[in-house]
Amino acid sequence: MSKGLFISFEGPDGSGKTTQIKLLSEYLEAKGTECVLTREPGGTKVSEEIRGILLDRANAGMSYTAEALLYAAARAQLVAEVIKPALNDGKAVLCDRFVDSSAVYQGMARGLGVEEIYTLNEFALDGIRPELTIHLDLSAEEGLRRKTKQAELDRMESEPDSFHRLVAEGYRELAKLEPERIKTIDASLPVEEIQEMIRGFVDGLK
Ligand code: TYD
Repeated sequence: MSKGLFISFEGPDGSGKTTQIKLLSEYLEAKGTECVLTREPGGTKVSEEIRGILLDRANAGMSYTAEALLYAAARAQLVAEVIKPALNDGKAVLCDRFVDSSAVYQGMARGLGVEEIYTLNEFALDGIRPELTIHLDLSAEEGLRRKTKQAELDRMESEPDSFHRLVAEGYRELAKLEPERIKTIDASLPVEEIQEMIRGFVDGLK
């Protein structure tokens, strides 16, 4: 059994996960809990290289199955190299996206099936699952509005609006399936208000 605390952050592109993770780490560190901040796909040399393949717009022809396997491969390396050791050391791991991203993007939006994606990922996860998952809920419209401000879109961001609607909807569905673990917060609220709610959920874990 690991001694640490594993929290993942989920939500559509541009929902403000990175900001909230940083604020939560400041809170936990101030209370004496060492934090490891990481992201998916990425967080290790191998996983960042896989991320490059996944997000490169030149790889437009990638099959959905290959896509799901590459996300799982990047995750396997991150679990083995970063997450598991940190949890064994009693640290808090705050991860920007985890297996639920695959459940929603590949399982639901791509249509590969949620159960199939969780089964596929069992091999990568090695028994590791988040205790708490914060879902920052952003409407597809607001997500698209934030996205159009960006200069260049990656392979996933370049998917049509209909895909991003399925993602936003998919997260809400997933949160309903596991309400104990997945906590939904309206991402359009002020940053400080969202952070207060997140801290409340984290404090409630102990
Ligand atoms: P990233 O820039 O990390 O996301 P964000 O926009 O939240 O900063 O890009 C990762 C992209 O990959 C994002 O569009 C979501 C997608 N993704 C999946 O489709 N499946 C997965 O398992 C993960 C982890 C991400």
